[in-house]
Amino acid sequence: MTVYVPQDSASVSVGANEVAAALQRAADEPIRLVRNGSRGMLWLEPLVEVETERGRVGYGPVTPGRVPELLAAGMLRGADHELCQGVVEDLPWMRDQQRLCFARVGVTDPLSTSDYEAHGGLRGLRAALAAAPAEVVEEVTTSGLRGRGGAGFPAGIKWNTVLKAEGPAKFVCCNADEGDSGTFADRMLMEGDPFCLIEGMTIAAHAVGATEGYIYVRSEYPDAVRTLRRAIDAAYAVGWLGEGVLGSELTFDLFVRVGAGAYICGEETSMLESLEGRRGMVRSKPPIPAITGLFGKPTVVNNVLTLASVPAILADGGRPYAELGVERSRGTQVFQLAGNIARGGVFESAFGITIEELVNGYGGGTRSGRPVRAVQIGGPLGSYVPPERFDLPMDYEALAEAQAMLGHGGITVFDDTVDMAAMARFAFEFCAEESCGKCTPCRVGAVRGVEVVDRIVGGEDRDGNLAVLGDLCELMTDGSLCAMGGLTPNPVRSALAHFPEDFLKEAK
Ligand code: NAI
Ligand code: SF4
Repeated sequence: MTVYVPQDSASVSVGANEVAAALQRAADEPIRLVRNGSRGMLWLEPLVEVETERGRVGYGPVTPGRVPELLAAGMLRGADHELCQGVVEDLPWMRDQQRLCFARVGVTDPLSTSDYEAHGGLRGLRAALAAAPAEVVEEVTTSGLRGRGGAGFPAGIKWNTVLKAEGPAKFVCCNADEGDSGTFADRMLMEGDPFCLIEGMTIAAHAVGATEGYIYVRSEYPDAVRTLRRAIDAAYAVGWLGEGVLGSELTFDLFVRVGAGAYICGEETSMLESLEGRRGMVRSKPPIPAITGLFGKPTVVNNVLTLASVPAILADGGRPYAELGVERSRGTQVFQLAGNIARGGVFESAFGITIEELVNGYGGGTRSGRPVRAVQIGGPLGSYVPPERFDLPMDYEALAEAQAMLGHGGITVFDDTVDMAAMARFAFEFCAEESCGKCTPCRVGAVRGVEVVDRIVGGEDRDGNLAVLGDLCELMTDGSLCAMGGLTPNPVRSALAHFPEDFLKEAK
């Protein structure tokens, strides 16, 4: 009898470990307990799944106190109960997704190499190793895969730049410094299917001629760090890493490095500084990391989800991947629903799904039951979008046209109690706190921004201060060295454009 209880840190934070212990204590027949990743239906966590002839039947949210009652009701045979959700794969949330990147997350034992292979793992790497590096790059280019960290730069072009760069040493660096508020897909992938990331990085190494890789994980993710380290050890033990990967001529060594809590280390050049042992400060570009990256060598820097999308592309071909999605946004995106939302979690779907479908459809509207007033897409530097624009498709260009951005695919929901002037102020506060300090528009502009918003809300010379706010936003957008200062005006401008009344209330 196989029973699955997630070990994902979101599940553990709501009692999954205690549920697992209670199950082992109370079961009166032997059970094989697998600690899987989370399926991404976070409102059902801890979600216990039981293998039955019909498929895996889910129960959730389970508390340790309810375990004896569930066992008595016949949970181990998939019997009905008020917490029974039915066969997990048949739930609309799961059934309607196109899981390529997250295909195994929540399904397999994250640390079992045999489970990984039994569920399609390594097909991509085997196909890549049988091809010349340039052919692998070509396949990624054909897929239309774009950087999932936020900027959406074509991965194939980036890899080609590194492949063509001369040099005795090259690196593959994975940016796992997932700092955007409302995002957690990188973490869930690393905790739920770490071999997928390892496979994606190894394919990248073969494609560009790199021999070493680093995964830069934010310090706030200790469980992901632990899982990755154990997965890397397991991968070395079976010959998936190190000298002669899978019997080929490729040598690839992989290391995990832990950040120290700075948002700016998610910016690729700060991350490289931090990896080299220095304080995370932004480097001027050019030169781009693809040419002069880690320790001055040509380096692929990609986000977790970009690299974890690669095994499926190599396994099944770039063309089928490119058939998914819309316009120049090809393939699937792992959307993350967070904030004040009834059903939050991870939803992987082809680009083009609308905000309405995600937020009010699958997400079920707000958790508070009050009307949705705004969503912020793309993290703390993303724009606020009002419900009138929920018909917008989630793709890079459509959002950019609407002065919004997809970022890392996070959508944070707010109900009608939100004060949008306070949110605009928060954008500047956040920037002031996290700015690396290298350039003046961001370092000084963020602090001045907080003061100007305070003056507007306080009723002081509103017209004059609104003009100053406009100038300040323009200066930060045009004059900042990196996206931190350059994008901070997004939430401010969108809050002001869609919710001006919040800035112009009667001063207290
Ligand atoms: P960027 O547009 O400067 O660069 C995108 C990527 O393409 C970089 O890796 C760059 O080195 C590479 N690149 C550019 N030209 C190239 C060429 N000719 N050949 C090869 N590679 C080339 O954008 P940046 O500053 O890297 O990222 C900004 C984005 O980051 C924002 O749009 C935002 O959405 C996102 N972001 C994500 C966060 C997260 O937690 N995931 C946090 C904050 C921002
Ligand atoms: Fe540093 Fe901000 Fe300038 Fe970026 S914009 S380089 S974070 S000071």
